Amino acid sequence: MPDVAPARPRDPRARARLRAPVRASALSEWALVPLRLFLGVTFTFAALQKLANPNFFNAASPISIHAQLVAAARVSPLRALVVHLIGLSTVIGATIALAELAVGVATLLGLFQRVAAVGGALLSLTFFLTVSFHAAPYYTGADLVFLAAWLPLVIAGRATRLSLDGLVRARSAAEAHRGAPELVAIPFSAVQSRCGHFDQGHCDALGGACNSSECPVLAGPSSSTGDAVDRRAVVLATASTVLVGGAVAVGVTVTAVAGRVVGGAVPPVAPNTLHAAPGAPRTALGVELGAARDVPVGTAATFTIPATGDPGIVVQASEGVFDAYDAVCPHAGCTVGYYAQNHVFACPCHGSQFLVANGDVISGPAPHGLAKLTVVEGPDGNLYLK
Ligand code: FES
Repeated sequence: MPDVAPARPRDPRARARLRAPVRASALSEWALVPLRLFLGVTFTFAALQKLANPNFFNAASPISIHAQLVAAARVSPLRALVVHLIGLSTVIGATIALAELAVGVATLLGLFQRVAAVGGALLSLTFFLTVSFHAAPYYTGADLVFLAAWLPLVIAGRATRLSLDGLVRARSAAEAHRGAPELVAIPFSAVQSRCGHFDQGHCDALGGACNSSECPVLAGPSSSTGDAVDRRAVVLATASTVLVGGAVAVGVTVTAVAGRVVGGAVPPVAPNTLHAAPGAPRTALGVELGAARDVPVGTAATFTIPATGDPGIVVQASEGVFDAYDAVCPHAGCTVGYYAQNHVFACPCHGSQFLVANGDVISGPAPHGLAKLTVVEGPDGNLYLK
């Protein structure tokens, strides 16, 4: 028989190295604080940006919620639903902004954290399915990343550090003359020596002689004290919510008024639409789009590109000079619009901007510029697409 090597004794230090550090539970509570603050600040900022910007609610603006819904109705996998929401764009925009604000403020303050995180995840999922679904590469669409970022907060539940939830629990426990709820590390062997092998209400070890007076699991919490703490916590949380809600309502009003006083002086003008005759024949100049007088200098008009069905846009930048492009944003397929105030094309979905002169990207996640088209004015005063 071959020799069997004797089993090597286990090194207790090796096992100790595998154990979580003593303060791991406390550290894990702090671990989500940076993520919570980032998401809270971002959603709050995004909401205030929408509420402060009058163009967000102006259907004529290329950066409005109306423009985003029109774009989503063309590219979203939920287009059958989105198309019915276009007529409600102002209500939808206000609802999104207020929902973002509620989620952002609650997350920043650590109030009803799991509810807020579920709200944030649902908003991110909605944005992903409507405006970021076709982002390429996929990680350039921020909404998918935000959706993933909310999930740890959904799983973790109540925020205990730097949070109103934590303050409420500590305050209500103190008022009930119970110490602040704290997690403490106890060697498992100590728990076993008093509780035996406690399994689903049964004492399976220590000969059935588990010590219920010393074993907190067997003794259970004092229900009267626990109920008192819970009632106080509900009252305090409700009072905190009312106070925070009041402060937020004042903040929303101030933001909206300030945005309109500062930035609402030059309302955008909706572009004209050129209607090429259906099945219009291609002439030596190209396919007729419509009258050039419908695109005055400094304005834009939209049209449908006959060959592809894509939306097109043409701007008369100076007398007789027409710059035209396929208006599909190369990032995720939304439709860009002409932003006359800044003389740029702007995408309503993720904010990419493009030069009117050549379609190049100025800013934003679009990987390249707009596809250039050639539009000329014919001797008959009409515009032709080459
Ligand atoms: S679709 Fe994302 S910037 Fe245009």
